[in-house]
Amino acid sequence: MSILKHHKKIEKHATLLLVLSFLVVSIGGIVQIVPLFYLENTIEEVEGVRPFSPLELAGREVYIREGCYTCHSQMIRPMRDEVERYGHYSLAAESMYDHPFLWGSKRTGPDLARIGGRYSDDWHVQHMIDPQSVVPESIMPPYGFLMDRVIDGEHIADLLRTYRIVGVPYTDEMIENARADFRAQANPDADHSGLLERYPGAQTRNFDGQPELTEMDAIIAYMQVLGTLVDFSTFVPDPQR
Ligand code: HEC
Repeated sequence: MSILKHHKKIEKHATLLLVLSFLVVSIGGIVQIVPLFYLENTIEEVEGVRPFSPLELAGREVYIREGCYTCHSQMIRPMRDEVERYGHYSLAAESMYDHPFLWGSKRTGPDLARIGGRYSDDWHVQHMIDPQSVVPESIMPPYGFLMDRVIDGEHIADLLRTYRIVGVPYTDEMIENARADFRAQANPDADHSGLLERYPGAQTRNFDGQPELTEMDAIIAYMQVLGTLVDFSTFVPDPQR
């Protein structure tokens, strides 16, 4: 067998072995990496996933500012214990408009990827003001001060514009209407038709029960949308991916 004879040469020659090993490993690497450069998008698009509405986005900013992600993950792994506790495992598409993503790396509290709709707004208000009053053994800090922080969306259009720079497809129309949409979502008496057209499935109501629009409204609007955009009764994973 002549091939084996040559192999003996390679095995006895350390430098040659090194060079050829490097070549083989490089080919393997290139085969894996190069196709990714030709794909426009590595994330499977999923029906229902849309950019956050202005109020939800403002809530997300509060979530980041307060460091909620240091105790909470937003990433349900496809393991049985997680899926049974939290619901369908997280899809890549569900965080495709998250910049930065908030998957988290530690769970002092539960995962929040599908917290939307699990509790009432009143529960959230009570829990944020005094976590121990609803979950006696809770070690979550209180965030009642969010009730006093009135917001009016002064910079919300700039925020949308910033997210557009990093790739979130906010349209000119969305940016033009950002402030109006921001206010309308928490005002049950407002006309919501434009908002709902731009952000299908957005929940519109007074989230914290106060007449003023506050950071509490924003964070609850954000909590209530998490994990609710994809309809998992009809979702079929793409077998090609
Ligand atoms: C020091 C860690 C810590 C921080 C910071 C923290 N939480 Fe929590 N959170 C917990 C723990 C522990 C629980 C479980 C007990 C409970 O429900 O209070 C929890 C529970 C929750 C729940 C209920 C989850 C469920 O499935 O029952 C929500 C919603 C929540 N937190 C939201 C937030 C938000 C929003 C912030 C930031 C404003 C935040 N948390 C910050 C520790 C934390």
